[in-house]
Amino acid sequence: MTAYRPADLPDYDPDLLPGDAVIAIDGPAGSGKSTTARFLADRFGLLYIDTGAMYRALTQASLSEGVSADDEAALVALLAPATLELRPAKGEVTVLWNGHDVSQAIRTPEVEALVSQVASHPAVRQEMVSRQQAMGRQGGVVMEGRDIGSVVFPLATAKIFLSASLEARVDRRFRQYKQRGRDINREELTRDLADRDRQDSQREVSPLQISPDAIVIDSSELNLDQQNETCARACLVNPTLDLELDTDLHKATREIPMHYRFAYFVFRGLARFFGLRQYGNEDGALPRGCIAAVNHISMWDPPLVGATFHRFRVHTLAKAELFKFWPVRSLFRWIDSIPINRKGFDAKAFAEAKAALDDGETLLIFPEGTRRAIGHPGPVRNGLGIVVQATQAPMVPIFIRGSYGKQPGGSRLSPCEVTFGPVMRWHGLDTLLTEIDAKEASRVIGQLCERAFYELQARSFERFPQTNFERELGEIQIEKFAARQRKVFRS
Ligand code: DC
Repeated sequence: MTAYRPADLPDYDPDLLPGDAVIAIDGPAGSGKSTTARFLADRFGLLYIDTGAMYRALTQASLSEGVSADDEAALVALLAPATLELRPAKGEVTVLWNGHDVSQAIRTPEVEALVSQVASHPAVRQEMVSRQQAMGRQGGVVMEGRDIGSVVFPLATAKIFLSASLEARVDRRFRQYKQRGRDINREELTRDLADRDRQDSQREVSPLQISPDAIVIDSSELNLDQQNETCARACLVNPTLDLELDTDLHKATREIPMHYRFAYFVFRGLARFFGLRQYGNEDGALPRGCIAAVNHISMWDPPLVGATFHRFRVHTLAKAELFKFWPVRSLFRWIDSIPINRKGFDAKAFAEAKAALDDGETLLIFPEGTRRAIGHPGPVRNGLGIVVQATQAPMVPIFIRGSYGKQPGGSRLSPCEVTFGPVMRWHGLDTLLTEIDAKEASRVIGQLCERAFYELQARSFERFPQTNFERELGEIQIEKFAARQRKVFRS
């Protein structure tokens, strides 16, 4: 397994981490997540959230209420009305289920034997994930679990996947139990951990898996101090890389060709006319050779998003149908659009996209491949994953809203907005590819992008709640767009 060594990581400067950072730590049982997550919370002054304790608390409640670990509906009925609190207390966390302290009760072998089963139900996970998102949406947290980087916080500031060999993990657990005075058989412990690994990684919904943008740290050979320090530095990798972005707007503008300045002038005029607002990335700085991945709801998306890109040339992947007629074709080619045939694999289009990224240019892509119903982004098609794997280019997810219900000067039907997410970098992709094949990896990258769109949408709804117009139109569009999608992609 490739892993980051302390030497690969930036010099330590805790001020680099923003106060509202979200640090996601995932990994198998016994990899040392809890210890390190607590350490990081303490070091950076963030709130520690142990999501495993939440699944354990539900398991414990199901045992005392006589609810079967197989009965998804009954588990959800138990969880939905319950209050579940994680209260920090002197380096430990007190877990309160309906106000009762269950911190000790959730650490028993009975709970341990059933918790993976309880955590495998999609409806249980859905409820837990929304609680976890509510706890961490304002930031300032270190959250540990199995699906934090991949599902709960797809836009986390830092994602760490902490792993260790089964042998090392058994050793640690064995010592822990001994210290607590519990007699435990080593073979039994090995079997239990291997079983939980299997259950957690093979379940259908959000299995334990390396998020392709996570920093993978193998702690088998590290002592506790080394593990903690390595992880602390890993939290600073993205903020350090962000510092390298060139934010000199005037220099950037001087460098773009005249015809681009003209195109951006037109796009910006259009954006002003519709009252477009931009959130995030106000100075327009992106890394060289970056993929800008935008959700797609309207024909107006390209020029409106284009209005936020006033600093550089942008190569846009656009459907081949648009290039049929020469005046349009010439215009599109003039501003570096790349025609892509959406039926089957268009090797020429992907080669052109890769060449642009390799040259350090920006690639604008609508990875859903066609317009989608308002309020329901995704699914993202495999093309994004193919480009990511071919280039390892960093990606910025961008969410557009209101390009459908636009009116001059802004609309009450739907605010016209473009929201930028943080730059995502594919630190864990090579390691992930030792576990799954390229096609599966494209699917995982696509899912991550889709979740990023949902998270950006949620942030947008926090600023301006979804309007009735958006909700109703979205419902109508779902069926209509699904039919069109089947026609476009013949699937
Ligand atoms: O980290 P832990 O051992 O306390 O986790 C207990 C169980 O909960 C583990 O078997 C997997 C599950 N879990 C999960 O499915 N998703 C999470 N985010 C956290 C834990």
